[in-house]
Amino acid sequence: MVQLATTPASAVGRGGEATGIISAMTSPATQVSNPFRLAGRVALVTGAGSPDGIGRAIARLFAAAGAAVALVDQDAAGAEANAAAIGDRALGAFADVTRPDSVAEAVTLIEQRLGPVDILLNNAGITRSTPLWETSLEEFDTVLAINLRGGFVCLQAVLPGMMRRGYGRIIWLSSIAGKQGGGVFGTAHYAASKAGVIGLCQSAARQLGPYGITSNAIAPGLVLTGLLPRTGGAEMADRLRQDVERTVPLRRAATAEDVANAALFLASEAASYVTGEIVDVNGGAYFD
Ligand SMILES: NC(=O)c1ccc[n+]([C@@H]2O[C@H](COP(=O)([O-])OP(=O)(O)OC[C@H]3O[C@@H](n4cnc5c(N)ncnc54)[C@H](O)[C@@H]3O)[C@@H](O)[C@H]2O)c1
Repeated sequence: MVQLATTPASAVGRGGEATGIISAMTSPATQVSNPFRLAGRVALVTGAGSPDGIGRAIARLFAAAGAAVALVDQDAAGAEANAAAIGDRALGAFADVTRPDSVAEAVTLIEQRLGPVDILLNNAGITRSTPLWETSLEEFDTVLAINLRGGFVCLQAVLPGMMRRGYGRIIWLSSIAGKQGGGVFGTAHYAASKAGVIGLCQSAARQLGPYGITSNAIAPGLVLTGLLPRTGGAEMADRLRQDVERTVPLRRAATAEDVANAALFLASEAASYVTGEIVDVNGGAYFD
């Protein structure tokens, strides 16, 4: 039986409300054995530097669940600001996931400051709204280098330690786009990168299972972060959101916290026999 602490500041949403799983976890009245605790674990979240992104939400939730969290991003100042808002057991640092030397440097720093990485969240990603017939090879390569190869670079950086210790949790950010030939923008390079993430995730699940390492992905539909407005403009993002609110069975887009809740499940002991799974967080927009 685990006696849970009262709600830490890091579990409190922008409006002051406790969010998602954490509100149930941290209720003083809760006295149940809690498989969602991550105490003693170290999590590395890539792409965790944006002010309203999925990476930030995951880092906040994991910290509230007891993990030490490293937030890395090519936007070092953003990662540091998000880490500072979480508190002492969070570290913000620069890492460009396209550059193995940069990722290795960040992992060395994290291991010195927080300890060996138990949980890798491959979240860094970009999207583009360019139609297939106008997409340059350069843009294609950029999207693939960050969204697909970047996750592999990060996996390589933490894998030797995980294999030695016989424990690891790898969680990948795929997308509904990787399952249905494109997401809200419908672009080919983004869809290809996110379908590739599913292949990598499932191959890792097969090959790393015997080492005590699970590998799972999350495939969100539209999530209300700055990604779309920054990429396609506020007006286009608003139109896409309204389409989703009209057509998706649950009649709303996802919040970053909806995605973080799925990540917490996959990182936790509750998912110890789950690997190679692609968890849809899309409000019923697509089933397979
Ligand atoms: N927002 C959505 O609707 C949605 C839907 C499905 C999947 N996703 C995926 O979720 C992930 C997070 O998206 P988000 O909506 O939070 O976007 P976001 O733009 O808020 O966060 C992405 C972060 O990745 C960082 N990044 C980009 N290139 C990088 C690099 N080379 N090295 C390190 N960091 C880099 C950016 O600086 C940014 O902070 C992405 O992989 C995205 O494809 C998002």
